[in-house]
Amino acid sequence: MPRTRSIMTLAVALAVALAACGDGASDDGSGETVDSLELSTAAAAGLAVFEGKCAVCHRPDLSGGAGPALGPASAAAGKPVEELRRTITEGGNGMPSWGGVLSAEEIDDVLTFLVEAQGR
Ligand code: HEC
Repeated sequence: MPRTRSIMTLAVALAVALAACGDGASDDGSGETVDSLELSTAAAAGLAVFEGKCAVCHRPDLSGGAGPALGPASAAAGKPVEELRRTITEGGNGMPSWGGVLSAEEIDDVLTFLVEAQGR
C-alpha cells in the first residue's frame, strides 16, 4: 500500500503544478509582444478589448483623441487603478459606460493592459 500512496501523492502534486502553470497569470514572457512591450496573457486579452472598443477614442498607441491619453506619461497613469475602473464601468463626460457591455473579466483585462502599458 505505501507504494500506491506515493504514486497518488505524485499524481496530485503533478496536477497542482500543471494547474498553476495553466492559469495564464504568470508573467513569464510567453505573452504577446506589442510595440516591443511584453504583455502578460491577461494584458494581451485586454489589448484585444482595447483595440475593438476603446482605441477609436483613445488611439491605438494610447496617445488620446476624443478621449484623453492613457499612456505612461498621461494623467491617467498617475491615477489609482480603482478610479480608472470606475470611469470605465460608469463612464461620464463623453466616456461611454462599459459596465453593461463588457464582462467583469474583460474590464479586469483591459485594466491590466493599461497598467502594463503605463509601465506600472
Ligand atoms: C466615444 C469615445 C470613447 C470611447 C469609445 C472610450 N472612451 Fe474612455 N474616455 C473618453 C472620454 C471623453 C473620457 C474622459 C472622461 C472624463 O473626463 O471624465 C474617457 C476617460 C477614460 C478613462 C479615464 C482617464 C483618466 O485620466 O481618468 C479611462 C481609463 C478610459 N477612458 C478607458 C477607456 C476604455 C478601457 C475604453 C474601452 C472599453 C474606453 N475608454 C472607450 C472617451 C471614450
